[in-house]
Amino acid sequence: MIDDATKNRILDTAQILEVVSDFVTLRRRGANYIGLCPFHNERTPSFNVNPARGIFKCFGCGKSGDAARFLMEHEQMTFPEALRWLAHKYGIPIEERELTAEERQQQSRRESLGIINEQACKWFERQLWETDGGKAVGLAYFRSRGFRDDIIHKFQLGYCPEGQDTMVKDALSKGYQKELLVEAGVAYAYEDGRLRDRFHGRVIFPIHSLSGKVIAFSGRIMKSDAKVAKYVNSPESPVYTKSNELYGIWLAKSTIVKQDKCFLVEGNTDVVSMHQTGIENVVASCGTSLTTGQIRKIHRFTSNITVLYDGDSAGIHASLRGIDMLLEEGMNVKVVLLPNGEDPDSFARAHSADEFRQYIDAQEVDFIRFKTNLLLAEVGDDPFKRAGLIKDIVTSISKIPEQIVRSTYITACSQMLRTDERIIISEVDKLRKEAKEKAKKDAANAEARATATPEQTDDTQQPEEEMVSQESPSGRAIQPVQATPAYPTMDPSLAVKSLTSTADPLQQKELLLMQQLVRHGEETICYDADEDGNEIPVSVAEFILGDMAYDGLQFSDTLLLQMAEELLQHRADPGFSASRYFLRHNDSRISSLATELIGERYELSRIFQGSTSIQEVVPHLLNDYKMAIVERELKETLARLKDPAIAGSPEQSRQVMEEYNELLEARKNLAKQLGERVTGV
Ligand code: CTP
Ligand code: MN
Repeated sequence: MIDDATKNRILDTAQILEVVSDFVTLRRRGANYIGLCPFHNERTPSFNVNPARGIFKCFGCGKSGDAARFLMEHEQMTFPEALRWLAHKYGIPIEERELTAEERQQQSRRESLGIINEQACKWFERQLWETDGGKAVGLAYFRSRGFRDDIIHKFQLGYCPEGQDTMVKDALSKGYQKELLVEAGVAYAYEDGRLRDRFHGRVIFPIHSLSGKVIAFSGRIMKSDAKVAKYVNSPESPVYTKSNELYGIWLAKSTIVKQDKCFLVEGNTDVVSMHQTGIENVVASCGTSLTTGQIRKIHRFTSNITVLYDGDSAGIHASLRGIDMLLEEGMNVKVVLLPNGEDPDSFARAHSADEFRQYIDAQEVDFIRFKTNLLLAEVGDDPFKRAGLIKDIVTSISKIPEQIVRSTYITACSQMLRTDERIIISEVDKLRKEAKEKAKKDAANAEARATATPEQTDDTQQPEEEMVSQESPSGRAIQPVQATPAYPTMDPSLAVKSLTSTADPLQQKELLLMQQLVRHGEETICYDADEDGNEIPVSVAEFILGDMAYDGLQFSDTLLLQMAEELLQHRADPGFSASRYFLRHNDSRISSLATELIGERYELSRIFQGSTSIQEVVPHLLNDYKMAIVERELKETLARLKDPAIAGSPEQSRQVMEEYNELLEARKNLAKQLGERVTGV
């Protein structure tokens, strides 16, 4: 039990931003932070965190509350569990006294199961480290596999003795209820009612929730006995849904975010060994084939996933379908094939982290190319098999939600398969149409039966155009850059021409942004919260112009500048439409520029042809624009460095050099964001 003073201290200390960031990738937007809501499926961020008020709020599904409420919703914790979690995170001591048998009865079931799992985990660890049997069998086994002691501790590995009911006896003697031991899965009951240890004679890999709570176990047999399964896992329980968990995610998540990438392997031991060499952004799918729930869990932290395959894996074919699901969820999927006879575990043990990383960098290929090559090698020249292969690849491509990515793959595959690109395009279109119709029908059926979960309906009814964005609108991409000197006003016809010419890259980018403003200025791109936590839709105009203002940027062309100012003035007018407003403008220079920007002829660029959402295009164009500015400033700074007046003064040189380095850093960040959207394939 936690007293009120401690409770208040915990709640006062907890920082909502830090807590939520443990589970959701957030981007700054003014004073608030936004991200994709973890409580419902969405592609336009409407999940808001307000650090000043200490609350989160989702405008999509309506969930809101403070840090403790977030944990309760997200991790299905009880309030005391959430308090304990926060206390642990912030190093606030709580007096945790042993519960009496009576109190134990009163605990909620989930909480009780959680406690049993935690206690069982500690018990297994004690067996491993403190008993003769544990040391001689379990610990010796882990060490023989090359696991270091610190890693054994970090993963909380343990051991359950040979005896049939060593653990059960101990637990019952301490007052734990039989049914709870069975429900948690650490024991199972004989028909005569006697309990038996589920994991006896096995080393234990605890499975943790995202927040690090032990929710289940995976026990590996010690004897090489073909008659029993190599691994035995906890059964499903109120705290453990197998298809939603990933082994290692708790220890991997912060590195996944930092590296913006997640490795996917097959086995628990692969996770442990890779972690030990220093590659920590790695998870395994708990012995199931990959599920949508697991993919979404990863997707909260990154869109980039790399699957590691054993060199001689017979399982590659079986897993190809699972990878189509990754594509479907909008992941950028890459594949690394390990040398023959190696799995990630053995490879990690035989190589340093650097060697492993070099190997990955050298061998990593995108999934579609990998699959195409793999199948090509198998079918040879058999025309029938070739047709089947094309169908197979086209199916994979058709799952990719982003049109840009799809078309990149179509081009690549038409070359690899030596097949006319148009044939592949029409096949992909056909499959997508079929899938859409099927989804529509399913949704209608589901609705008719009134059994559809909100998530499914949401998913299947998404129109094509809205399915592209996985990336939430960009946060602050660069440090504030000084406003640029104004260019003379362009002749609008010249301006439009420069859209397709390469004359002045910066001017071109500005026009591309203005094109979005004219076409979509009033449309909602994301949701923000005001001081009182009320929902505010953010329009494209506010997003672009606000972002530019935040970085101290403005249009260099006076005509564009004027248009931007008028947009800000009129954006709140009832029924405001940017295109209508500019098309009917009194200033003929503005109305004719608007006409040109709206016209079909001036599509953005080859990259953005076709259907793409503002959620994707706008942040990309903003970054592109900032990139042009950074490039120009880099050039200027370099020129200054060479200026004899500056070169002569060490103090000034150092200062300019510093600016130069900052710009380089900004360029790197921008390139990373830009590259991921376009060439992340
Ligand atoms: N698995 C399982 N039940 C089995 C076999 C495997 O649940 N009977 C799951 C486990 O989660 C295991 C994963 O599938 O980690 C991959 O299996 P495998 O590669 O055989 O296991 P490893 O973890 O590599 O174990 P080891 O290296 O000790 O053989
Ligand atoms: Mn293995």
